[in-house]
Amino acid sequence: MNKTVIITGGTTGIGKATAIHFAKNGYNVVVTSRNADKETSVIADFKENGVDVAFFPLDVTQEKQVESVIQETVKKFGKLDSIVNNSGISLGNAILAETKSEELKQMLDTNVMGVYYGMKYAIIEMLKTGGGTIVNLASIAGLNGLYATAQYNASKHAVVGLTKGTAIDYAQQGIRVNAVAPGAIKTDILKNAIASGTYDVSSIEAIHPMNRLGEVEDIAKAIYFLASDENTFMTGTILNIDGGYNAK
Ligand code: NAI
Repeated sequence: MNKTVIITGGTTGIGKATAIHFAKNGYNVVVTSRNADKETSVIADFKENGVDVAFFPLDVTQEKQVESVIQETVKKFGKLDSIVNNSGISLGNAILAETKSEELKQMLDTNVMGVYYGMKYAIIEMLKTGGGTIVNLASIAGLNGLYATAQYNASKHAVVGLTKGTAIDYAQQGIRVNAVAPGAIKTDILKNAIASGTYDVSSIEAIHPMNRLGEVEDIAKAIYFLASDENTFMTGTILNIDGGYNAK
């Protein structure tokens, strides 16, 4: 029986590359997006990339929706082996006194509560079938302070805390919980930060000792490794994939 993975926000950026990687490795892949109207175009887009995926509409800030997508996935494929809690937003990009309080609340809702709901309802299903794996999207911003990023820093530090604590909770029940901490990766989130005028591409490249931005596949491969049976003894790990950023 093929394994099954849910990738939240799996229609763009890192999530999309990760969905393709899992599907090419024989997984049943469920991708989610807030916009139900995108189902046909998303499925067609993955087909063009040589893979089939299932699609569910999901806003990760809505607890009931997260629970229902996880239960529907189990109904459709028999069980849930892995979840990648990838959905995330980055707003603001200003120094603290110039940020908007509402933006922090929105980031906590999506980046923290969304990950919490995804883990909670996935674990409930995984415990029924002997275990599973969870990979959360942290960031270099979850391990360090970055300029004009304190609100996003707070949300991603919380992802690190949720990952470590949950890994310990379920270490003896067959559930491995890890996170990746990417450096700056070429996706829409980064494009928006650059458009805000706070950063430019060469200054972002330069923060990485490898002096380049990351590609989505750099992250997809590592997420797959952490979720798959290739990873046998890592749990509670926050894996740096950052061109050397955290080696400094
Ligand atoms: P992206 O913007 O392409 O992907 C984020 C996805 O989350 C989008 O598909 C978006 O529609 C979805 N999303 C946002 N709010 C949602 C909600 N309430 N419910 C459901 N889905 C929602 O950007 P990217 O870079 O692929 O981001 C993926 C993850 O990687 C995010 O958690 C981000 O914080 C993290 N990350 C990104 C880095 C980068 O430099 N691009 C660096 C480190 C971490």
